[in-house]
Amino acid sequence: MKEKKEIMEIVSSMARQAGLVIKERLGGNFSTRCKGSPADFVTDVDRQSQEIILEGLKKYFPEHHVIAEENAFNDFSPENANVWYVDPLDGTTNFVFSIPFYGVSIALAEGGKPSLGIVYDPLRDEMFTAVRNGGAMLNGCRIHADGTVQTLDRSLLVTGFPVSREFKELMADAYTGGILFNSMNIRALGSAALELAYVACGRLTGSWEVKLKPWDVAAGALLVEEAGGMVSGIRGEPLELTEFVDIVSSNGLIHGEFIRALGFGS
Ligand code: IPD
Ligand code: CA
Ligand code: CA
Repeated sequence: MKEKKEIMEIVSSMARQAGLVIKERLGGNFSTRCKGSPADFVTDVDRQSQEIILEGLKKYFPEHHVIAEENAFNDFSPENANVWYVDPLDGTTNFVFSIPFYGVSIALAEGGKPSLGIVYDPLRDEMFTAVRNGGAMLNGCRIHADGTVQTLDRSLLVTGFPVSREFKELMADAYTGGILFNSMNIRALGSAALELAYVACGRLTGSWEVKLKPWDVAAGALLVEEAGGMVSGIRGEPLELTEFVDIVSSNGLIHGEFIRALGFGS
């Protein structure tokens, strides 16, 4: 396989190209339709962005497996050795409503664990990158999770809300478990990948969300870990890139208290 530095250059250029297309189409004409639920949007911009990325992956890594959000069929078999997780537009609802907060997320997982990840915010031209054991960067400069906040009551957290009623009930459990009362405050920004990038660079103390997909979190989880933070499942167990992912991320210092306040049990 190519060196990680070379792979990073190839993939960040793809993310930039895809991001440019998304940026150019903001507020313009695009077609929107609903996937399974009326609150789950996809636009032709999601597809156009995905085409750019998939074409590049096919050209440079023809032997690798790809799991991409807008693919008609994704094979989640864990035995696949080198797998790319692609979210061509994370934050589609924001995009549709002209809320300027969304990005492109691309990660390579080797043996089930992310080894390289990129989250690109085209509107702010912020390229978050991470390589396993190589640190996390924002536009080429090292980033670190917040090393100052040690307790939940000083923590600014972020979450997101699933579209289905059944999954919303899981979120409600966390609020009754006490997270609302025990944290400093909570945001919901609408792009799980960018939210993880924000935890990685210390803008937010932690994030949690249930029933995400692996393409929402694969790159962001590596960013947080490589920035010195911590990621886990919702009960503190190791994070797995399964078909559905419940995730908690933090600066590491608050992780135990965070998990307890979420109240999902051990
Ligand atoms: C969504 C965003 C959002 C999260 C949703 C995801 P999409 O991804 O990451 O923040 O709350 O659960 O589905 O559909 O915009 O790629
Ligand atoms: Ca997504
Ligand atoms: Ca998406």
